[in-house]
Amino acid sequence: MDSFEKNAVKIRRLTLSDVDTVISVDWAKIPDKEMVSSQRGGRFDASFIAEFHGILVGFVLSRIIYVGRPMTGICQLHLIAVRPEYQRHGIGAMLLDRLAAYCKELGIQTMRTIVHEDNAELLKYFQDVGFHPSKILNLDRSVE
Ligand SMILES: CC(C)(COP(=O)(O)OP(=O)(O)OC[C@H]1O[C@@H](n2cnc3c(N)ncnc32)[C@H](O)[C@@H]1OP(=O)(O)O)[C@@H](O)C(=O)NCCC(=O)NCCS
Repeated sequence: MDSFEKNAVKIRRLTLSDVDTVISVDWAKIPDKEMVSSQRGGRFDASFIAEFHGILVGFVLSRIIYVGRPMTGICQLHLIAVRPEYQRHGIGAMLLDRLAAYCKELGIQTMRTIVHEDNAELLKYFQDVGFHPSKILNLDRSVE
C-alpha cells in the first residue's frame, strides 16, 4: 500500500454477528475458536473491530472484569491483531484509543494485558502504545 486513507478506517463495537468472521481469519492465529467465541457478547464485552472499505482489517478482543482486593473493574485485553498488509498504519493504535475512550465512558481506569517477560518485541509494542509494567503480580500454580 503506497498511500493509505486513514479516514477510511472505521472502528466499531464488535457484535455477535461479527464473531464467526473474526475468529476465522487466518492472520490472527486464534488457537481455540470456541473458547474465544464463548467469551464474546454480553454487557461486559469491550471488543472492537476495524474495517477498511468494509474489509475486516483488525480487532481488539477485550472484556471488563472485576478482579483483586478490593475488587476493581479493569479492561482485560485478550488479543489485538491487525491484518499483516495493513500493519504499521496506526490501526492498532486507533483500536486501542477507541477502547480507552470506551473504558473512560464506563469509569474503568485501567486496561491490562499479559505479555511474557521474554517477549521483547511485544513488550516494546505495548510500551510504545502506552502500557507499563503493572504493580499487580501474577501468581501461577502449576497443575501436575
Ligand atoms: C501488534 C499489532 C496489533 C500492531 O498493530 P499496528 O496497526 O501495526 O500498530 P500501529 O501501526 O498502530 O503501531 C503503533 C506503534 O506501535 C509500535 N509498533 C507497532 N508494531 C510493532 C511491532 N511489530 N514491533 C514493535 N513495535 C511496534 C510502534 O511504535 C508504532 O508506531 P510507529 O509505526 O509510529 O513506529 C500488529 O503488529 C499485529 O497484529 N501483530 C500480530 C498479533 C500480535 O502480536 N498481537 C499482540 C498480542 S495481543
